[in-house]
Amino acid sequence: MEEKKVVLITGGTRGIGSEIAKKFAKEGCNLVLNYVSDSTDVEKIKSEFDEYGIDVLVLKADVSVFEDCENLVKEAIAKFGKIDILVNNAGITKDTLIAMMKEDAFDKVIDVNLKGTFNVTKNVVPYMMKKRSGNIINISSVVGIVGNAGQSNYAASKAGIIGFTKSLAKELAPRNIRVNAVAPGFIDTDMTSVLSDKVKENINLQIPLKRMGKAQEVANVVSFLAGNESSYITGQVINVDGGMVM
Ligand SMILES: NC(=O)c1ccc[n+]([C@@H]2O[C@H](COP(=O)([O-])OP(=O)(O)OC[C@H]3O[C@@H](n4cnc5c(N)ncnc54)[C@H](O)[C@@H]3O)[C@@H](O)[C@H]2O)c1
Repeated sequence: MEEKKVVLITGGTRGIGSEIAKKFAKEGCNLVLNYVSDSTDVEKIKSEFDEYGIDVLVLKADVSVFEDCENLVKEAIAKFGKIDILVNNAGITKDTLIAMMKEDAFDKVIDVNLKGTFNVTKNVVPYMMKKRSGNIINISSVVGIVGNAGQSNYAASKAGIIGFTKSLAKELAPRNIRVNAVAPGFIDTDMTSVLSDKVKENINLQIPLKRMGKAQEVANVVSFLAGNESSYITGQVINVDGGMVM
């Protein structure tokens, strides 16, 4: 029997991260799911994967803290001995216009979204290099490509992720490690549930497919990028946005 792949997903216990986890679980991968909130019910989350016959490690770590990420990766390696696929999914927003944006709102979003992606990747890559194989998928956003009023901090973090992705793709290709980004448009999760119905209606009008996306639709593309079907793709940004940005 083929050895199970191990997938580490940051912010993997809800929203898009949780759907990515379920997709890999269906494919028979073992999972390391990272969370940050103390209110997370770890046992309940583990039990959601009972039906798949896989091992699931659910670990607390704040991705913006380097030491947390060192420990996260060490624990994952202690349990599974390897990480085949890393999905840098954890992310936050602190939206407001630049005139009102406090320094802390800028720093926090960069620290979690961009620095967090570095912190986890930096700790995972040595193990992938040693194995001469691996797959990294970073969750960016279409906002990182086209910008959005009121999201200068978020857009900067997500554009940064794209530069990071392309640079690492070039660095790590000789080691047989592929690095790609997925740029979702408007996806129906907790992150977008704060938007009013009016705002959502307006957004839908600007989307050629005339609806918000589902977290599963992002997960499908992450799974494609992590698998052999995409073996000649690296350094790319794939939009999952109903045609919003083209
Ligand atoms: N929902 C959308 O429309 C949309 C669009 C484009 C990109 N994205 C990106 O997709 C990713 C997932 O977002 P979502 O919509 O599922 O939102 P969400 O708020 O439901 O999930 C975000 C996850 O990140 C985790 N997280 C936040 N801060 C963290 C930290 N410091 N350390 C560890 N984990 C942390 C949260 O606990 C949560 O599990 C994010 O990177 C987001 O920017 C979402």
